[in-house]
Amino acid sequence: MHETGENSGDNILEVRDLVKHFPVRVGVLFKRVIGHVRAVDGVSFDLKRGETLGVVGESGCGKSTLAQVLMRLEPPTSGSATFEGRDMLAMKGAELRKLRRDIQIVLQDPYTSLNPRMTVGDIVGEPFEIHPEVAPKGSRAGRVRDLLDVVGLNPEHLNRYPHQFSGGQRQRIGIARALALKPKVIVCDEPVSALDVSIQAQVMNLLGDLQSEFGLSYVFIAHDLSVVRHLSDRVAVMYLGKVVEIGTEEEIYERPTHPYTQALLSAVPVPDPELRGRRQVIRLEGDVPSPVDPPSGCRFRTRCWKAQDVCAEEEPALEIRAANHPSACHFAEQRSIVP
Ligand SMILES: Nc1ncnc2c1ncn2[C@@H]1O[C@H](COP(=O)(O)OP(=O)(O)O)[C@@H](O)[C@H]1O
Ligand code: SF4
Ligand SMILES: [Mg+2]
Repeated sequence: MHETGENSGDNILEVRDLVKHFPVRVGVLFKRVIGHVRAVDGVSFDLKRGETLGVVGESGCGKSTLAQVLMRLEPPTSGSATFEGRDMLAMKGAELRKLRRDIQIVLQDPYTSLNPRMTVGDIVGEPFEIHPEVAPKGSRAGRVRDLLDVVGLNPEHLNRYPHQFSGGQRQRIGIARALALKPKVIVCDEPVSALDVSIQAQVMNLLGDLQSEFGLSYVFIAHDLSVVRHLSDRVAVMYLGKVVEIGTEEEIYERPTHPYTQALLSAVPVPDPELRGRRQVIRLEGDVPSPVDPPSGCRFRTRCWKAQDVCAEEEPALEIRAANHPSACHFAEQRSIVP
């Protein structure tokens, strides 16, 4: 394949049919497997260099599992993924070490993802202990100060502990740590979901600024479409382990064709009171079914107001059916959700 290490065109990441099933075990020694949680069940997407791909879906649809597989923290059940044209799921040794610098993650909860007994300087500088080639010992304190400055924190606060910072500041610490090894891709797993709305905007703006400054590519995970709109170039909507619709920011927000995307959009808060009155709200019936035993055919059919017999029999492929972008619905049709 791409033995020279050259990237395949514009795509920094190419993910194909990625599957991650977790065995459900029972018995005294948990030896008997009675089924599988189909957390990620055939996900494909490309991430272009410098681009942000938003990944959106309700809690439990497999977003964090996808992130864990992309971080090489969980082995996939099947499927493939390339980073700069090379098979990233097979990487070992020096190549895997380099991958662990190139792809970083920012997690949702700054309260639990930072070690409370470490100073901020040690937290942000810890990646240099593992990858000393990036910053020789004598230069590390200076690098940490620079990183704190880049994320809008006072560089003189490097001897403080996480509890001495606010939630938004803690997320900045997490971002500084992710930047330490000069990554190319950052997987952001709900980085602002635990923050107040006003602080969310500041952290999102920071992530946008850092992206332009360092040419970063983001996979940006959220459970709410409103959070990712501003930053995303493209958006993938997930339901029960599958991508049900994918398109540009404009295609997803202005010309959604999958009923699930339309329902999610209709739940986004509308700031303008006049528009708020004009919008139809689509209320989804029932809960998300169990990923251990998902519905036959279209997984969304148990909550879909458009479901027909064919939806239980045939799984709809993710393909272009309406409005020029892929949608996994037999009856995909464009519907604009005001605003
Ligand atoms: N390590 C694990 N073992 C078993 N099941 C898991 C594990 N991690 C996640 N799951 C299950 O996989 C599904 C997807 O979870 P997750 O990826 O965390 O979703 P999301 O991030 O979208 O909320 C859930 O049903 C969850 O309970
Ligand atoms: S395929 Fe059928 S059940 Fe699935 S989203 Fe489309 S109309 Fe609804
Ligand atoms: Mg999650």
